[in-house]
Amino acid sequence: MNILVTGGAGYIGSHTCVALLEAGHSVIIADNLSNSKEQVVDYVQHISNKDVIFYKVDVTDEVALNEIFSRHLIDGVIHFAGWKAVGESVEKPLMYYMNNLVSTMLLAKVCLLYGVERFVFSSSATVYGDNKVPFKETMDLLPTTNPYGETKVMSERILTDIANANPAFSVSILRYFNPVGAHESGLIGEAPNGIPNNIMPYVTQVAKGKLEKLRVFGNDYPTLDGTGVRDYIHVVDLADGHVAALENLNEGVHTYNLGTGKGTSVLELLKAFEEANDIEIPFDIVDRRPGDIASCFADASKANRELGWTVKRDLIEMCRDAWRFEKNL
Ligand code: NAD
Ligand code: UFG
Repeated sequence: MNILVTGGAGYIGSHTCVALLEAGHSVIIADNLSNSKEQVVDYVQHISNKDVIFYKVDVTDEVALNEIFSRHLIDGVIHFAGWKAVGESVEKPLMYYMNNLVSTMLLAKVCLLYGVERFVFSSSATVYGDNKVPFKETMDLLPTTNPYGETKVMSERILTDIANANPAFSVSILRYFNPVGAHESGLIGEAPNGIPNNIMPYVTQVAKGKLEKLRVFGNDYPTLDGTGVRDYIHVVDLADGHVAALENLNEGVHTYNLGTGKGTSVLELLKAFEEANDIEIPFDIVDRRPGDIASCFADASKANRELGWTVKRDLIEMCRDAWRFEKNL
């Protein structure tokens, strides 16, 4: 298939482009590089030894989208493009609603116009709010406490309504848990601007000496050791989940959790990182971070069953690959 990957120069998008190319698909990337670098496109080509077509465009630009769709015969779209910083979304809600919702609506509009019937959307476990773990796709969604999370809830709803009104338009909604790690080549990975919000890039920057110590946000949660529990998933496994979703997409709307099904606490993650890389990570326990929940992990059985997809990489590989990438930066 010929797949348009929006946000394909980003963290998850770049790994998914590699997975698509390795599975024999062709890739067109549309990315405005607002949170990525063009060099990533070269790395994707280098790793896969295949060419990709790259457009530096904003996917909220309808004219630019029409041009891409009229130039190429596109079989499907994977829509990663969007902004994802929770705190920033609270400060700049309009910017987040504009970018994340307008991009989704315009892409769907152009897909319908050009008869493109496969649409895979990047959603997030954040849509479950503070539900009871493990999270299942059938659960009622709960408020997400931030505009970023709301853009995911709203995008899911918009795509569902569009698919219901256009039976040939097939949508796969993928709810990611906590993607970490990097490609084993060490060439592509997560390189956030400024001080990282997420734990793994923070830990790798502490390991490198760029940051002094990790702040563990709270040790009084109702979890095994009091620290927050998350479902960390290797980004290459997550990327493979997109290929499986695309290749198994049937008519209608299908929602899948992409996680490992296993919860890991902050202290367990630290221990795994130290073990995998033989580096000590200094840390302080500080107050809880506002908006955080105690536990978040998936029931991933639907994706296992219907997509024939399972994770292959464990926590040690996630830590080892994340560190290899950071060392190369
Ligand atoms: P990322 O920031 O690395 O990648 C997003 C890419 O989209 C970037 O390359 C950016 O330049 C591009 N982009 C943003 N707005 C654009 C626009 N209007 N036009 C064109 N390009 C645009 O983020 P990521 O971690 O790879 O996340 C990809 C998707 O997955 C996002 O939609 C994100 O919300 C979602 N997601 C991420 C996580 C996570 O923990 N990383 C978890 C759940 C969901
Ligand atoms: N944490 C720390 N110190 C840090 C950073 C994080 O202790 O410096 C803790 C958090 O409190 C949490 C865990 O590490 O318990 C994971 O935090 P992250 O910030 O890495 O990830 P979140 O689970 O908060 O959120 C991530 C993405 C969201 C997405 C969600 C889906 O950032 O966009 O996963 O589950 F919606």
